[in-house]
Amino acid sequence: MRTSSSSFYPPYILLFFILLPLLLVLLLAFSLNSKQYSSSWSPPWLSSASTAASTAASAALEAEADGVALTQKEIFASNISSSASSIEADDHISFSPAPQPARSSNELIQLEDSSLPVRARRRDVHLERLEFNLAKARASITFAAQNPNKTYAEDKDYVPIGPVYRNPYAFHRSYLEMERLFKVYVYEEGEPPLFHDGPCRSIYSMEGRFIYNMEMGNRFRTRNPEHAHVHFLPFSVVKMVKFIYQPKTFDISPIKRTIVDYINVISSRYPYWNRSLGADHFMLSCHDWGPHASKSLPYLYSNSIRVLCNANTSEGFKPLKDVSLPEINLKTGVTAGFIGGIPVSRRSILAFFAGGMHGPIRPILLKHWKDKHDNDMQIHEYLPQGVDYYKMMKSSKFCICPSGYEVASPRIVEAIYLECVPVIISDHYVLPFSDVLNWKSFSVQISVDQIPELKNILTRISKGQYIRMWRRVKMVQKHFVVNSPPERFDVFHMILHSIWLRRLNFRVQDLN
Ligand SMILES: *[C@@H]1O[C@H](CO)[C@@H](O)[C@H](O)[C@H]1NC(C)=O
Ligand SMILES: *[C@@H]1O[C@H](CO)[C@@H](O)[C@H](O)[C@H]1NC(C)=O
Ligand SMILES: *[C@@H]1O[C@H](CO)[C@@H](O)[C@H](O)[C@H]1NC(C)=O
Ligand SMILES: *[C@@H]1O[C@H](CO)[C@@H](O)[C@H](O)[C@H]1NC(C)=O
Repeated sequence: MRTSSSSFYPPYILLFFILLPLLLVLLLAFSLNSKQYSSSWSPPWLSSASTAASTAASAALEAEADGVALTQKEIFASNISSSASSIEADDHISFSPAPQPARSSNELIQLEDSSLPVRARRRDVHLERLEFNLAKARASITFAAQNPNKTYAEDKDYVPIGPVYRNPYAFHRSYLEMERLFKVYVYEEGEPPLFHDGPCRSIYSMEGRFIYNMEMGNRFRTRNPEHAHVHFLPFSVVKMVKFIYQPKTFDISPIKRTIVDYINVISSRYPYWNRSLGADHFMLSCHDWGPHASKSLPYLYSNSIRVLCNANTSEGFKPLKDVSLPEINLKTGVTAGFIGGIPVSRRSILAFFAGGMHGPIRPILLKHWKDKHDNDMQIHEYLPQGVDYYKMMKSSKFCICPSGYEVASPRIVEAIYLECVPVIISDHYVLPFSDVLNWKSFSVQISVDQIPELKNILTRISKGQYIRMWRRVKMVQKHFVVNSPPERFDVFHMILHSIWLRRLNFRVQDLN
């Protein structure tokens, strides 16, 4: 039926001419508003920071836990020129041995130019969906942290519980949310051996293991970059040192150039790097030069998640943004047969260490405790002929783990494997998984100036207290075990979980 009168409009016309423009205006207002919005969320159990890290490290952690992840906050603010200048300023706090990033100033200017003026573009629906789901995961973890009994989750394999965790409920919920949601895209560009390859043995083994396990189809890898929460830059600094570094030159610019070229390729081929200025990207390296390599590009250093064995806060490691990677010396490539210890009653040595005079801390340790003819304190530079290193660790109550040339030491994980309570002596080191694990409950941490007091400190620990720590060392073992293929809650998944937590820590707003 037709109506001749024009005064009558069917309801859908009304919808079309009145509601739709209204909706558009609202959307526009919202998207303008959200440009200014930035949020930094830190897992609830991070705020009461008392990690094993030195005072400097926990100061850094607390400063950041105060509510702002500075770099991200600045990136996602609408004022691009001020964000670029802040990154420039950041770059000036470079540590002495590292050569200046070869092309940084040029690139900075380019980036600045190309990101101005900020224009409104098409909404990124995929990104909005990812961020929406992350927001729900955040809320669910926060709820679990605050309401332990309401959210207790069954788990067929393992339920984290007890004082080894900073907050077992929050960790468990976060782990389950990671399993449900988390997706990683691995860039396929780049040729082995510098890319998609890495050492799977030696003290750098975690580098190759992670790349390998990430690439060998696992449930966290997605082939669709639109579905990814983070993008992995699969280069190996160890392989670069082996193949493109000229020995003895101490010139790492070829490595830096390779990384810059790589990021130029992926940032021109895909929109993701420019979209977040690298914030939802991560690199991983166990090599001592990992942090230097990350200085190839200002945004890689200051925005991306850097997963590093060399987690030295004095060299710019940021506990809320970066991930401390455990250093595990895999000699044969498998940990089976290498794990397990003997009962406390048969551990006759109080404290054991054997190792070279590397770095600033060990000379002090050796000066005070080497050759003191004290059977309780087995502190050696070189072990006597015929004495087995691992047998000594297994027969000791405490294993001394001082930093060497770099903050991380493979001794920490060795001690955990052999059920010897680690005594950690380091400055500015952020311990692996200290976002989740309460290291104080299963290790002893002493400062460098307490080294002369070492024996007193260890003998003052009561037998009951020791046995509790020793049991907890056995409990955390599972989080450091290398499995092939990886198993739930093992070291691969713990590394991934640390990356997941860092990703929960910020929102990506499309800067394109
Ligand atoms: C943008 O940053 C510049 C330089 O820091 C500053 O002078 C200016 O006031 C900022 N503008 C806004 C809108 O925040
Ligand atoms: C919740 O857990 C706490 C200890 O964790 C306990 O004291 C309390 O009774 C529990 N509440 C309920 C309702 O189960
Ligand atoms: C990302 O930014 C760089 C430098 O400004 C530019 O050369 C490149 O084309 C951009 N990538 C995309 C996909 O637009
Ligand atoms: C940590 O970094 C600082 C600053 O570069 C350096 O002095 C210190 O030796 C580093 N620690 C270790 C164990 O390498």
